[in-house]
Amino acid sequence: MSESAETSTAVLDQGAQGPMIVVEDLHRSYGSGAAAVHALRGVSFEIPRGELVALKGRSGSGKTTLLNLVGGLDEPDRGRITVDGRDLSELGENGLLELRRDRIGFIFQSFGLIPILTAAENVGIPMRMRGADPREREERVELLLSLVGLDGHAGQRPGELSGGQRQRVAIARALANTPALLIADEPTGQLDAGTGLAVMELLRAVVRSERVTALVATHDATLLDLADRVLELSDGEIVEH
Ligand SMILES: Nc1ncnc2c1ncn2[C@@H]1O[C@H](COP(=O)(O)OP(=O)(O)OP(=O)(O)O)[C@@H](O)[C@H]1O
Ligand SMILES: [Mg+2]
Repeated sequence: MSESAETSTAVLDQGAQGPMIVVEDLHRSYGSGAAAVHALRGVSFEIPRGELVALKGRSGSGKTTLLNLVGGLDEPDRGRITVDGRDLSELGENGLLELRRDRIGFIFQSFGLIPILTAAENVGIPMRMRGADPREREERVELLLSLVGLDGHAGQRPGELSGGQRQRVAIARALANTPALLIADEPTGQLDAGTGLAVMELLRAVVRSERVTALVATHDATLLDLADRVLELSDGEIVEH
């Protein structure tokens, strides 16, 4: 990696070492008996800190299932997940809640913005939930909106923003609590190719500037070039390249 000096500082800053994500022999099925769907069938991989990793695979290959497990939103039937040095199975309900709130930023395909709140208020939600100081919150929100190129749009509601602008609000919100890990599920799925590329380039840039690790599910082959590495799922298994 070109900025290895910067990366090692980030690791020291976080006081943590080792990979950001370690996944070992993950299995997850839905339903039971003859109707069971085996969404993940023994998935293992590691993601080092500071990388932008793309997760590709056909529809139904298990991408969302995997992201939900890594983000602590769902539990595997079998296998182990370590995020930011913590074994998720040992965290318990409150520990998982804190990990998700303080260390992970989620970006969903459907944006998940609250319609009656302004762009700035949407970005500030995670900091409110953490009980951050209002002044600190306002400053960070302004910085984040600027980072994603939305200076001057702070007061607009989601309905008054374009699709690409909404997606950028969602990215800014995911970064609000300075997460160690960004998890994005097809963040460019609803955007045209040009806007999608711009959003992906923005993610590329924030992974560098905010020193986060990102795991991004995407269908879009042209976006894969921007990733440090590509993981491919096929029928619930990682395809070796
Ligand atoms: N809640 C659920 N109940 C039953 N089956 C499910 C559930 N969620 C996912 N599945 C099944 O698990 C498999 C993997 O689904 P998943 O959503 O992880 O795929 P994906 O790779 O994200 O697909 P897409 O690209 O369409 O979003 C699919 O066969 C799907 O039908
Ligand atoms: Mg999906």
